Amino acid sequence: MKSMIRAATLNDAEAMTRLHVAAWRETYAELVPKSYLEALDATIRVEQRRALLLRRDIVSAVVERNGSIAGFALGGPCRSSDPSCPRELYAIYLLRAFQRRGCGLALVRFVATRFVEQGCDRFIVWVLRDNHSARRFYEQLGGTLIREMSIDIGGAQLVEVAYGLSARALVASTPADAG
Ligand SMILES: CC(C)(COP(=O)(O)OP(=O)(O)OC[C@H]1O[C@@H](n2cnc3c(N)ncnc32)[C@H](O)[C@@H]1OP(=O)(O)O)[C@@H](O)C(=O)NCCC(=O)NCCS
Repeated sequence: MKSMIRAATLNDAEAMTRLHVAAWRETYAELVPKSYLEALDATIRVEQRRALLLRRDIVSAVVERNGSIAGFALGGPCRSSDPSCPRELYAIYLLRAFQRRGCGLALVRFVATRFVEQGCDRFIVWVLRDNHSARRFYEQLGGTLIREMSIDIGGAQLVEVAYGLSARALVASTPADAG
């Protein structure tokens, strides 16, 4: 069955939060302290997620497959108030089983379309420097490295890098056939 990309609703908050925790554990097993990943608790983040989804300036997208959520993306105003990049892709996560089928590209294009409708082009996305597969993904989408900062996650000093991307270029690109 094909995947469907749509905006998230409040009813998706719980599934999105569970998926977020599961994807963190899959993605960051080698990068983030085990104790931090084990302590992540989806239940305590559901209300935060609902509050986020209620905000008018937040853009959301989910991949629905066979009635369940296989991935999501969230974006909105740039958290560092950078005038050269007014928007930010805050998070994009797909369960491993659904990666490399074009769903990530479809999610980003969905969010980018909303950014363009809001009159914005440039957006930023932060990614762990050692998350090589996500970095290849952003580079494939035309992202260029613009910034770097250190970050503490569970007591580990890690480095995040930021890519700048063009929402208009993504919207103009050939639509992906997410399978
Ligand atoms: C990163 C992520 C969102 C990408 O989504 P995806 O659906 O797997 O990627 P797509 O199938 O849309 O890939 C589009 C293109 O990006 C590039 N790409 C994606 N993943 C790649 C990888 N691991 N290595 C190299 N290139 C990659 C490819 O060019 C790909 O096109 P192709 O498959 O036709 O070669 C997804 O893999 C994911 O959720 N990963 C785990 C969580 C994560 O790291 N999130 C980012 C946090 S900042």
